[in-house]
Amino acid sequence: MHYESYDEYDISYLPGLKQRVVRDARAASKQRQPRDSEPSEWLASQIEGEDDLPISYGAGASEERLLRDALTIFYRDTIITEVVSRVKGGKEANVYCCRAHPKTGMDLIAAKVYRPRIHRTLRNDAIYKEGRLMLDDEGKGITRNERTKRAIAKKTDFGKETITFSWIEHENATMQKLHAAGADVPRPIAHEGNAILMAYYGDINQPASTLNSVDIDPREAAPMFDRLMWHVELMLAHNCVHGDLSPYNVLYWEGKAVVIDFPQAVVALKNPHARRLLQRDIDRLAQFFARYGIEKDTAALGDSLWKQFMNGEL
Ligand SMILES: Nc1ncnc2c1ncn2[C@@H]1O[C@H](COP(=O)(O)OP(=O)(O)O)[C@@H](O)[C@H]1O
Ligand SMILES: [Mg+2]
Repeated sequence: MHYESYDEYDISYLPGLKQRVVRDARAASKQRQPRDSEPSEWLASQIEGEDDLPISYGAGASEERLLRDALTIFYRDTIITEVVSRVKGGKEANVYCCRAHPKTGMDLIAAKVYRPRIHRTLRNDAIYKEGRLMLDDEGKGITRNERTKRAIAKKTDFGKETITFSWIEHENATMQKLHAAGADVPRPIAHEGNAILMAYYGDINQPASTLNSVDIDPREAAPMFDRLMWHVELMLAHNCVHGDLSPYNVLYWEGKAVVIDFPQAVVALKNPHARRLLQRDIDRLAQFFARYGIEKDTAALGDSLWKQFMNGEL
Protein backbone atom coordinates (compact mmCIF):
# COMPACT_ATOMS: atom_id res chain seq x y z
CA MET A 1 0.00 0.00 0.00
CA HIS A 2 1.35 3.45 -0.86
CA TYR A 3 0.79 5.59 2.16
CA GLU A 4 2.77 8.40 0.63
CA SER A 5 0.05 9.07 -1.89
CA TYR A 6 -2.01 12.14 -1.14
CA ASP A 7 -4.70 11.29 -3.64
CA GLU A 8 -7.12 10.42 -0.90
CA TYR A 9 -7.05 13.95 0.44
CA ASP A 10 -10.34 15.68 0.38
CA ILE A 11 -9.94 19.43 0.40
CA SER A 12 -13.40 19.95 1.75
CA TYR A 13 -12.02 18.54 5.01
CA LEU A 14 -10.13 21.64 5.95
CA PRO A 15 -12.37 24.51 6.87
CA GLY A 16 -11.58 27.59 4.83
CA LEU A 17 -9.35 25.84 2.34
CA LYS A 18 -11.93 25.58 -0.42
CA GLN A 19 -12.82 29.25 -0.16
CA ARG A 20 -9.15 30.20 -0.13
CA VAL A 21 -8.38 28.18 -3.25
CA VAL A 22 -11.26 29.84 -5.08
CA ARG A 23 -10.24 33.29 -3.83
CA ASP A 24 -6.61 32.76 -4.87
CA ALA A 25 -7.68 31.61 -8.34
CA ARG A 26 -9.89 34.69 -8.77
CA ALA A 27 -7.15 37.04 -7.59
CA ALA A 28 -4.63 35.45 -9.96
CA SER A 29 -6.94 35.74 -12.95
CA LYS A 30 -7.37 39.49 -12.33
CA GLN A 31 -3.66 40.17 -12.56
CA ARG A 32 -2.30 40.92 -16.01
CA GLN A 33 1.25 40.42 -17.10
CA PRO A 34 3.09 43.78 -17.12
CA ARG A 35 4.40 44.64 -20.60
CA ASP A 36 8.03 45.03 -19.59
CA SER A 37 8.53 41.78 -17.64
CA GLU A 38 9.83 38.48 -18.94
CA PRO A 39 6.94 36.02 -19.31
CA SER A 40 8.77 33.32 -17.34
CA GLU A 41 9.55 35.69 -14.46
CA TRP A 42 6.00 36.91 -14.35
CA LEU A 43 4.68 33.37 -14.36
CA ALA A 44 7.04 32.35 -11.57
CA SER A 45 5.97 35.30 -9.44
CA GLN A 46 2.34 34.30 -9.97
CA ILE A 47 2.98 30.70 -9.01
CA GLU A 48 5.10 31.48 -6.03
CA GLY A 49 3.80 34.67 -4.48
CA GLU A 50 6.03 36.33 -1.93
CA ASP A 51 3.70 35.28 0.78
CA ASP A 52 3.79 31.62 -0.11
CA LEU A 53 5.68 29.11 1.95
CA PRO A 54 8.55 27.86 -0.27
CA ILE A 55 8.40 24.12 -0.86
CA SER A 56 11.64 23.14 -2.51
CA TYR A 57 11.09 19.54 -3.45
CA GLY A 58 8.73 17.87 -5.85
CA ALA A 59 5.58 17.60 -3.83
CA GLY A 60 2.48 16.77 -5.85
CA ALA A 61 -0.25 19.39 -6.18
CA SER A 62 -2.50 18.03 -3.50
CA GLU A 63 0.35 17.42 -1.05
CA GLU A 64 1.54 20.96 -1.69
CA ARG A 65 -1.90 22.38 -0.94
CA LEU A 66 -2.12 20.51 2.30
CA LEU A 67 1.41 21.43 3.31
CA ARG A 68 0.64 25.06 2.73
CA ASP A 69 -2.52 24.79 4.70
CA ALA A 70 -0.82 23.10 7.64
CA LEU A 71 2.47 25.02 7.68
CA THR A 72 1.85 28.54 6.33
CA ILE A 73 1.00 29.73 9.82
CA PHE A 74 4.51 28.78 11.00
CA TYR A 75 6.02 30.50 7.95
CA ARG A 76 4.11 33.71 8.71
CA ASP A 77 5.09 33.43 12.38
CA THR A 78 8.74 33.28 11.21
CA ILE A 79 9.44 29.88 12.70
CA ILE A 80 10.20 28.11 9.40
CA THR A 81 11.32 29.58 6.09
CA GLU A 82 11.10 26.62 3.71
CA VAL A 83 10.03 22.99 3.44
CA VAL A 84 13.17 21.23 2.24
CA SER A 85 12.18 17.59 1.97
CA ARG A 86 9.84 14.89 3.08
CA VAL A 87 11.63 12.72 5.62
CA LYS A 88 9.09 9.97 5.74
CA GLY A 89 5.52 9.26 4.83
CA GLY A 90 3.56 7.19 7.29
CA LYS A 91 0.03 5.87 7.60
CA GLU A 92 -1.11 8.71 9.76
CA ALA A 93 1.38 11.49 9.31
CA ASN A 94 4.25 12.66 7.13
CA VAL A 95 7.35 14.18 8.60
CA TYR A 96 9.11 17.04 6.76
CA CYS A 97 12.49 18.67 7.12
CA CYS A 98 12.08 22.46 7.22
CA ARG A 99 14.63 25.24 7.29
CA ALA A 100 14.30 27.15 10.54
CA HIS A 101 13.99 30.92 10.69
CA PRO A 102 17.25 32.39 12.09
CA LYS A 103 15.37 33.89 15.03
CA THR A 104 14.70 30.38 16.35
CA GLY A 105 18.43 29.78 16.77
CA MET A 106 18.05 26.42 15.02
CA ASP A 107 19.04 25.31 11.53
CA LEU A 108 16.37 22.74 10.82
CA ILE A 109 12.98 21.89 12.23
CA ALA A 110 10.92 18.71 11.78
CA ALA A 111 7.23 19.17 10.96
CA LYS A 112 4.94 16.23 11.61
CA VAL A 113 1.85 16.82 9.52
CA TYR A 114 -1.08 14.52 10.16
CA ARG A 115 -3.22 13.38 7.31
CA PRO A 116 -6.75 14.62 7.28
CA ARG A 117 -9.29 12.05 8.33
CA ILE A 118 -6.72 10.00 10.20
CA HIS A 119 -9.49 8.79 12.44
CA ARG A 120 -9.95 6.08 9.83
CA THR A 121 -6.46 4.71 10.31
CA LEU A 122 -4.96 6.10 13.49
CA ARG A 123 -4.18 3.55 16.13
CA ASN A 124 -7.45 4.55 17.66
CA ASP A 125 -8.13 1.25 19.25
CA ALA A 126 -10.27 2.11 22.18
CA ILE A 127 -7.57 0.69 24.44
CA TYR A 128 -5.32 3.71 24.06
CA LYS A 129 -8.05 6.21 24.75
CA GLU A 130 -9.33 4.75 27.97
CA GLY A 131 -8.77 7.05 30.91
CA ARG A 132 -7.57 9.88 28.71
CA LEU A 133 -8.96 13.36 28.82
CA MET A 134 -10.05 14.39 25.34
CA LEU A 135 -8.25 17.58 24.39
CA ASP A 136 -9.40 20.21 21.92
CA ASP A 137 -7.09 22.01 19.53
CA GLU A 138 -6.06 24.37 22.29
CA GLY A 139 -5.21 21.55 24.64
CA LYS A 140 -8.27 22.04 26.80
CA GLY A 141 -10.50 19.22 27.98
CA ILE A 142 -13.54 18.93 25.73
CA THR A 143 -15.64 16.29 27.38
CA ARG A 144 -17.54 18.90 29.38
CA ASN A 145 -18.82 20.52 26.23
CA GLU A 146 -22.22 18.94 25.56
CA ARG A 147 -22.37 19.98 21.91
CA THR A 148 -18.95 18.44 21.24
CA LYS A 149 -19.86 15.28 23.12
CA ARG A 150 -23.02 14.90 21.03
CA ALA A 151 -21.07 15.49 17.81
CA ILE A 152 -18.56 12.80 18.76
CA ALA A 153 -21.29 10.34 19.70
CA LYS A 154 -23.14 11.00 16.44
CA LYS A 155 -19.90 10.75 14.46
CA THR A 156 -20.56 13.99 12.60
CA ASP A 157 -17.68 15.48 10.58
CA PHE A 158 -17.11 17.94 13.39
CA GLY A 159 -17.09 15.11 15.90
CA LYS A 160 -14.55 13.16 13.84
CA GLU A 161 -12.29 16.18 13.46
CA THR A 162 -12.46 16.73 17.18
CA ILE A 163 -11.25 13.19 17.77
CA THR A 164 -8.42 13.63 15.25
CA PHE A 165 -7.27 16.85 16.89
CA SER A 166 -7.47 15.23 20.27
CA TRP A 167 -4.85 12.63 19.24
CA ILE A 168 -2.50 15.30 17.93
CA GLU A 169 -3.00 17.45 21.02
CA HIS A 170 -2.26 14.47 23.16
CA GLU A 171 0.98 13.77 21.31
CA ASN A 172 2.08 17.39 21.66
CA ALA A 173 1.16 17.57 25.35
CA THR A 174 2.98 14.29 26.06
CA MET A 175 6.13 15.48 24.29
CA GLN A 176 6.07 18.74 26.21
CA LYS A 177 5.72 16.95 29.51
CA LEU A 178 8.50 14.46 28.78
CA HIS A 179 10.85 17.05 27.34
CA ALA A 180 10.40 19.24 30.40
CA ALA A 181 11.18 16.18 32.53
CA GLY A 182 14.54 15.79 30.80
CA ALA A 183 13.72 12.89 28.46
CA ASP A 184 15.55 12.45 25.17
CA VAL A 185 12.56 13.35 23.01
CA PRO A 186 12.56 16.05 20.32
CA ARG A 187 11.93 19.47 21.79
CA PRO A 188 8.41 20.52 20.79
CA ILE A 189 8.58 23.95 19.14
CA ALA A 190 5.07 24.82 18.02
CA HIS A 191 1.75 23.19 17.35
CA GLU A 192 -1.29 24.25 15.39
CA GLY A 193 -4.12 22.25 13.83
CA ASN A 194 -2.79 19.04 12.32
CA ALA A 195 0.93 19.90 12.55
CA ILE A 196 3.52 19.61 15.28
CA LEU A 197 6.92 21.29 14.90
CA MET A 198 9.83 19.85 16.83
CA ALA A 199 13.61 19.65 16.91
CA TYR A 200 14.94 17.87 13.83
CA TYR A 201 17.52 15.09 14.10
CA GLY A 202 19.77 14.63 11.12
CA ASP A 203 21.26 17.01 8.62
CA ILE A 204 19.81 18.62 5.57
CA ASN A 205 20.71 15.72 3.26
CA GLN A 206 20.17 12.86 5.64
CA PRO A 207 17.64 12.53 8.43
CA ALA A 208 18.57 10.45 11.45
CA SER A 209 17.95 6.73 10.99
CA THR A 210 15.56 4.85 13.18
CA LEU A 211 17.27 2.37 15.47
CA ASN A 212 15.88 -0.66 13.64
CA SER A 213 17.87 0.26 10.52
CA VAL A 214 21.31 0.88 12.02
CA ASP A 215 24.07 -1.40 13.18
CA ILE A 216 25.23 0.06 16.43
CA ASP A 217 28.65 -0.66 17.89
CA PRO A 218 28.21 -3.63 20.25
CA ARG A 219 29.84 -1.54 22.99
CA GLU A 220 27.06 1.01 22.68
CA ALA A 221 24.32 -1.57 23.12
CA ALA A 222 24.29 -2.07 26.90
CA PRO A 223 24.35 1.63 27.86
CA MET A 224 21.76 2.40 25.19
CA PHE A 225 19.38 -0.28 26.44
CA ASP A 226 19.82 1.01 30.01
CA ARG A 227 19.16 4.56 28.87
CA LEU A 228 16.00 3.51 27.03
CA MET A 229 14.82 1.62 30.10
CA TRP A 230 15.51 4.77 32.11
CA HIS A 231 13.13 6.49 29.67
CA VAL A 232 10.46 3.89 30.21
CA GLU A 233 10.83 4.52 33.94
CA LEU A 234 10.81 8.31 33.52
CA MET A 235 7.64 8.11 31.45
CA LEU A 236 6.01 5.91 34.05
CA ALA A 237 7.06 8.31 36.78
CA HIS A 238 5.08 10.88 34.76
CA ASN A 239 2.09 8.59 34.58
CA CYS A 240 2.71 7.68 30.97
CA VAL A 241 3.31 4.50 28.96
CA HIS A 242 4.51 5.03 25.38
CA GLY A 243 2.40 2.17 24.03
CA ASP A 244 4.25 1.82 20.71
CA LEU A 245 7.86 1.78 21.77
CA SER A 246 10.11 -0.18 19.47
CA PRO A 247 13.34 0.46 17.51
CA TYR A 248 11.08 1.95 14.80
CA ASN A 249 10.18 4.80 17.14
CA VAL A 250 13.70 5.52 18.34
CA LEU A 251 15.93 7.83 16.29
CA TYR A 252 19.64 7.20 16.35
CA TRP A 253 21.71 10.34 15.94
CA GLU A 254 25.30 11.05 16.96
CA GLY A 255 25.40 8.06 19.25
CA LYS A 256 22.21 9.05 21.04
CA ALA A 257 18.81 7.37 21.11
CA VAL A 258 15.81 9.73 20.87
CA VAL A 259 12.29 8.48 21.51
CA ILE A 260 9.54 9.70 19.14
CA ASP A 261 5.89 9.15 18.15
CA PHE A 262 3.53 9.68 21.07
CA PRO A 263 -0.10 9.97 19.92
CA GLN A 264 -1.03 6.62 21.42
CA ALA A 265 0.71 7.12 24.79
CA VAL A 266 -1.59 6.05 27.61
CA VAL A 267 -2.27 7.42 31.06
CA ALA A 268 -0.75 4.75 33.26
CA LEU A 269 -2.94 5.16 36.33
CA LYS A 270 -6.21 5.35 34.45
CA ASN A 271 -5.80 3.00 31.52
CA PRO A 272 -6.56 -0.64 32.36
CA HIS A 273 -4.21 -1.82 29.60
CA ALA A 274 -1.22 0.20 30.79
CA ARG A 275 0.53 -2.72 32.49
CA ARG A 276 0.27 -4.89 29.36
CA LEU A 277 1.42 -2.07 27.07
CA LEU A 278 4.36 -1.35 29.38
CA GLN A 279 5.40 -4.98 29.10
CA ARG A 280 5.10 -4.92 25.31
CA ASP A 281 7.27 -1.79 25.12
CA ILE A 282 9.97 -3.41 27.26
CA ASP A 283 9.79 -6.70 25.35
CA ARG A 284 10.17 -5.01 21.96
CA LEU A 285 13.18 -3.02 23.07
CA ALA A 286 14.80 -6.09 24.63
CA GLN A 287 14.17 -8.09 21.46
CA PHE A 288 16.24 -5.61 19.45
CA PHE A 289 19.12 -5.53 21.93
CA ALA A 290 19.19 -9.33 22.23
CA ARG A 291 21.04 -9.44 18.91
CA TYR A 292 23.90 -7.66 20.69
CA GLY A 293 24.01 -10.37 23.32
CA ILE A 294 22.05 -8.44 25.91
CA GLU A 295 19.83 -10.83 27.78
CA LYS A 296 17.28 -9.47 30.17
CA ASP A 297 14.48 -10.96 32.19
CA THR A 298 11.91 -8.58 30.73
CA ALA A 299 9.04 -9.91 32.85
CA ALA A 300 11.03 -9.15 36.00
CA LEU A 301 11.93 -5.68 34.68
CA GLY A 302 8.27 -4.95 33.98
CA ASP A 303 7.11 -6.30 37.36
CA SER A 304 9.67 -4.31 39.26
CA LEU A 305 8.87 -1.06 37.46
CA TRP A 306 5.13 -1.51 37.84
CA LYS A 307 5.43 -2.34 41.54
CA GLN A 308 7.52 0.78 42.18
CA PHE A 309 5.04 2.84 40.20
CA MET A 310 2.03 1.52 42.09
CA ASN A 311 3.80 2.06 45.41
CA GLY A 312 4.51 5.66 44.48
CA GLU A 313 8.25 5.01 44.47
CA LEU A 314 9.12 6.33 41.01
N1 LIG B 1 12.23 14.95 15.01
C1 LIG B 1 12.53 14.20 13.96
N2 LIG B 1 13.71 14.37 13.30
C2 LIG B 1 14.00 13.61 12.22
N3 LIG B 1 13.21 12.62 11.74
C3 LIG B 1 12.03 12.40 12.36
C4 LIG B 1 11.63 13.17 13.49
N4 LIG B 1 10.42 12.73 13.89
C5 LIG B 1 10.08 11.74 13.07
N5 LIG B 1 11.04 11.52 12.14
C6 LIG B 1 10.99 10.53 11.04
O1 LIG B 1 9.64 10.39 10.60
C7 LIG B 1 9.19 9.05 10.79
C8 LIG B 1 7.73 9.05 11.20
O2 LIG B 1 7.58 9.73 12.44
P1 LIG B 1 6.69 9.13 13.61
O3 LIG B 1 6.56 10.19 14.66
O4 LIG B 1 7.24 7.81 14.05
O5 LIG B 1 5.27 8.96 12.91
P2 LIG B 1 4.42 7.68 12.42
O6 LIG B 1 3.19 7.76 13.22
O7 LIG B 1 4.22 7.91 10.97
O8 LIG B 1 5.21 6.43 12.72
C9 LIG B 1 10.13 8.45 11.81
O9 LIG B 1 10.26 7.07 11.64
C10 LIG B 1 11.44 9.16 11.50
O10 LIG B 1 12.10 8.53 10.43
MG1 LIG C 1 6.51 5.89 14.18
